[in-house]
Amino acid sequence: FQVPVPKNEPVLAYAPGSKEKAALKHAIEQARAKKLDIPMYIGGEEVRTDKLVRLAPPHDHQHTLGHFHMGDASHVEQAINAALGAKEAWANLAWEHRASIFLKAAELIAGPYRAKLNAATMLGQSKSAFQAEIDSACEIIDFLRYNVAYMTQIYADQPESGPGIWNRLEYRPLEGFVFALTPFNFTAIAGNLPTSAAMMGNTVVWKPANTQVYSANILMEIFKEAGVPDGVINLVYVEGPVAGDVIFKHPQFAGIHFTGSTGVFQNIWKTIGENIHRYKTYPRIVGETGGKDFILAHKSAHAKAVATAITRGAFEYQGQKCSAASRAYIPDNLWPDVKKYVVEDLKDISMGGVEDFSNFVNAVIDEKSFDKIAKYIDNAKQSPMVEVIAGGEYDKSKGYFIEPTILLTKDPMYTTMCEEIFGPVLTIYVYQAERFEETLELVDSTSEYALTGAIFSQDRYAIELASKKLANAAGNFYINDKPTGAVVGQQPFGGARASGTNDKAGSMLNLLRWVSPRTIKETF
Ligand code: NAD
Ligand code: ALA
Repeated sequence: FQVPVPKNEPVLAYAPGSKEKAALKHAIEQARAKKLDIPMYIGGEEVRTDKLVRLAPPHDHQHTLGHFHMGDASHVEQAINAALGAKEAWANLAWEHRASIFLKAAELIAGPYRAKLNAATMLGQSKSAFQAEIDSACEIIDFLRYNVAYMTQIYADQPESGPGIWNRLEYRPLEGFVFALTPFNFTAIAGNLPTSAAMMGNTVVWKPANTQVYSANILMEIFKEAGVPDGVINLVYVEGPVAGDVIFKHPQFAGIHFTGSTGVFQNIWKTIGENIHRYKTYPRIVGETGGKDFILAHKSAHAKAVATAITRGAFEYQGQKCSAASRAYIPDNLWPDVKKYVVEDLKDISMGGVEDFSNFVNAVIDEKSFDKIAKYIDNAKQSPMVEVIAGGEYDKSKGYFIEPTILLTKDPMYTTMCEEIFGPVLTIYVYQAERFEETLELVDSTSEYALTGAIFSQDRYAIELASKKLANAAGNFYINDKPTGAVVGQQPFGGARASGTNDKAGSMLNLLRWVSPRTIKETF
């Protein structure tokens, strides 16, 4: 069997007058005009409760998009039972049929659902049209197509046999159910976590972030239309600890596919450890977590390229990408030019709602996030160690808007050089150009997280040195490019240290975590 050779989905440009722009505008207008009523999906059934949670665009929080139905512990139990009930038939379905379902889901997103899913990501998560397109169109389509190809490579990988002996590896799914616990910031990641485990024959309980329910619900509609059988993916909306309390005590809990913050993941790991005696099998623990991603320029770098990487790498999607640059180390010879270019870039940037496609910056996800980021900015304004180079203002009267903010610090250990802020704030430390090697040590020693990082240099020796000294400081390392925008099939994504288990989303490594192979030896 040879499955269709995957190709990256082309990114649509949404140019003025284009068909795709008209379709997306129409989908946004329709979404704003109607009131959503979003149920959970358990065992293929729509489930409604009397606890309604209002949904609003983060950039226009007085507008009501509708509501979703919030569940409780009993719904988590029902979802587990539905997953366990669907397991045998799904695990026994020939892999080609599982593959076909997910390839069809990819085509539904590429075609009839593209505008609707992008509109939901734009309105629900305050993403610009371009940021939605690379996430809820291209990246999720790529995850589905490439994972199908990787799945077939895994199944094809078999041990040596010989005359009189036939050795086989049977790539069985895990025994029990898988829990997919997903973050708000990428619709593609939210869709990938349940589907990658399901593709390998597992059945799943999926709990998205409350701030991503709108686009999660549309993904679920798509999965159903593509033919995912009832009970294979069960979508529940409950508070995280409510889900955790039921799932991590369940004897059939077989694994967690998590993406989110480091603190939440570390607590989950601890809880799993405390409950280890309850489980039938050791659960798989896969978690992609926080980041404090860096841009490091060498004295030979092009200042303009560094400035562009800062503007795009730090401020696209308001700095709410796990991969977003949030600290930069610039040599003193380049700093005047980098500063000039970056300040010019930011002057031209417009901020506002997603409905106006010319806005580069939209709102941060919610009030809690807004307050946390604003506090970092306020503290920085009061610190004698920090100067605000650009931005620094914020306003939540209509939406949760925070200006792209650049801080310059004299202290390379200042809090905003070390802690994940998850917002549009980048801190710069200017180092003496001749102290490049010491700066490499500084970057590594402050990399408690190790997700993404970028070196800018025209000097091959400097690039090689940085590559070696920072080998453990970033799971995705970029040379002369911004540290965001990894493409499935090209740059498998994930980091180590406090950034996760580094199982590289959208890769064979990741899919292998969702199987428990049996070795069979037969003699004749
Ligand atoms: P989060 O940790 O707040 O939430 C993630 C999920 O966990 C959500 O579904 C949430 O409801 C749930 N949750 C929260 N507290 C819980 C608890 N006590 N028990 C059980 N579940 C709980 O993360 P977020 O704000 O949605 O996403 C942002 C974070 O995700 C950032 O730290 C970012 O760096 C990280 N992230 C990492 C990657 C990566 O690939 N490394 C990708 C995207 C996002
Ligand atoms: N693919 C996303 C990025 O690299 C996670 O920004």
